[in-house]
Amino acid sequence: MSRIPEQILEDIQQRLDIVEIVSSYIPLKRAGRNFKACCPFHHEKTGSFIVSPDKQIFHCFGCGVGGDVFSFLMKYERMEFPEAVKMLADKAGIDFVQEKTKDSSQVDSVSKVLYEVNELAALYFQHILVKDSQAGIARKYLSGRGLTPESIKRFRLGFAGAQWDGLVLFLRKKGISDALLVRSGVALKSSQGKVYDRFRNRVMFPIFNHRGKIIGFGGRILESTDTGGPKYVNSPETEIYKKSKTLYGFNFSKEFVSKQNYCVVVEGYLDFIIPFQAGMKNLVASSGTAFTIDHIRLIKRYTSNLVIVFDADDAGREAALRSLDPLIEEGMNVRIVNLEPGFDPDSWVRAKGAEGFSRSIDAAKNLFDFKLGLLLDRFKRDVPEEKAQIAHEMLSTIKKVSNAVIRASYIKKLSETINVPEEALLAELQKVKVSVAYERKRDDSYNQGVTNVSSAAEKMLLSLMFENEKFISQGKESISCDEFKDPTIKKITKYLYEAKEATAPVTILSKVNDPEVKSFISSLLVADLGINDQQKSFDDCVRKIKKDAVKMQITMIQKDINRAAQDDGDTEKLHGLYKRFHLLKKELKIYEEGN
Ligand code: UTP
Ligand code: MN
Repeated sequence: MSRIPEQILEDIQQRLDIVEIVSSYIPLKRAGRNFKACCPFHHEKTGSFIVSPDKQIFHCFGCGVGGDVFSFLMKYERMEFPEAVKMLADKAGIDFVQEKTKDSSQVDSVSKVLYEVNELAALYFQHILVKDSQAGIARKYLSGRGLTPESIKRFRLGFAGAQWDGLVLFLRKKGISDALLVRSGVALKSSQGKVYDRFRNRVMFPIFNHRGKIIGFGGRILESTDTGGPKYVNSPETEIYKKSKTLYGFNFSKEFVSKQNYCVVVEGYLDFIIPFQAGMKNLVASSGTAFTIDHIRLIKRYTSNLVIVFDADDAGREAALRSLDPLIEEGMNVRIVNLEPGFDPDSWVRAKGAEGFSRSIDAAKNLFDFKLGLLLDRFKRDVPEEKAQIAHEMLSTIKKVSNAVIRASYIKKLSETINVPEEALLAELQKVKVSVAYERKRDDSYNQGVTNVSSAAEKMLLSLMFENEKFISQGKESISCDEFKDPTIKKITKYLYEAKEATAPVTILSKVNDPEVKSFISSLLVADLGINDQQKSFDDCVRKIKKDAVKMQITMIQKDINRAAQDDGDTEKLHGLYKRFHLLKKELKIYEEGN
């Protein structure tokens, strides 16, 4: 959250028109109440980018970005928030110099010191690895994993010894305050107020930003000193280290990515280093986190072609499946490598050499075939409902492909594979929603058995609350936040319920940091409700959501009952469950009769 006074933000928003600001960057065309354009944030041929003068927001139905005038500038000009505020304040003729210089110079100087602390910490760990007698096991470990001395130097690997305050003492001597030690993430503060090293007895991998500055660390446990902690301990997020924006190794590899015009995505630090030292240099490591839009955009400046390598276990495959859609939305050309079970790029290269890895990459399947393969493993294509499930999942991917020829050939292939006429698939394709934020929410909740329809009711309810504040107070009385299934909607509703005074939607946008939530709100705001009887819609939605919540509880209780019955004996528990079951059934009836 920013330290810029809210009054200033409101003044700026009041004096400026988002339409005017956006149209100074891209040409806008009027479309009804709104303005339209081709989205400047993803590649497209037809305009899905909407600017609403009423609500003073923008939203792209293609890629899902959205927000207020500040977010637009931050995205378009790649500015930080304070910078965007400064620029718009100037335009609005609001004198903002004093606050601005204080705020942003503070931010700058904090970042600067955090870079310094990380750099010093890296030097310390490097020194221990090379010089300290206790680091013998670490040196042996690294050479045992096939790391050359050149790699150890280039990637600035180090070692954190057993001492609980080695780094803390070193950095204090360099004049770093305890507060900064903690803020940089290299140290922790105990409940007694003692400051101590975060990393102990670990091989240290500095994490670089794409300009090559150290912003954090990953510390790997040594098998020989294994004391049961997690395999890797990582720096926490700080002002300079954001996991959603960091791709390990990209500072070393970007020139190779650009030259070869594709980028191989691996997971671990050593999955990056070992292939790199073997000569396969156009890669990045995701460090085990899901791929975000920011990651994709960073790579996209160098290439649009990705080859993703995932561990072949189930967790890896699920992660692969989930991360597919945003990649296509961003217009990336994606292929997937599935290594033999038990291998990762590190062990694969050591077993088969860089050439072996190259061959696997050449044999990578395109994303469509890969996803279809996973779905065919999971669902039976001869059971109509499961066939529909496969079709639905594939169509949600196909919908996002903007090239019509590719789209048509995917439809043809899907039709042949699951034996459904192309016309039927095309008809279903029409029904697939394009809203990104919504689509992703639905995918997440899919496993919990949440239906589309209930999310639609939740969305509608929220839209109504945005539209008219009387629905916020009615909502407070009739439905609690916990009854919403969609986590984003839950969060926003909670915010609305707890706000002291009624909040204008645009003000909410400027308070939200999460880009996905921002995009979700802006998508609701630009959507035209097109309903006459808002009160009736509101009541219907409340009933529908409550009904679904009760249904969900009933399903869960039925499961509990089955389990308790199998465990035979616990009649008391079973009795209690039945009692609740019947109460819920009664409640459900009330909602159903209200229809
Ligand atoms: P892996 O478990 O696949 O480890 O995690 P790895 O990279 O192959 O490690 P080695 O080969 O056993 O040394 C992949 C990545 O996930 C993150 C790390 O970034 C790791 O490189 N991770 C994993 C953690 O952050 N914490 C953990 O406990 C495990
Ligand atoms: Mn590994």
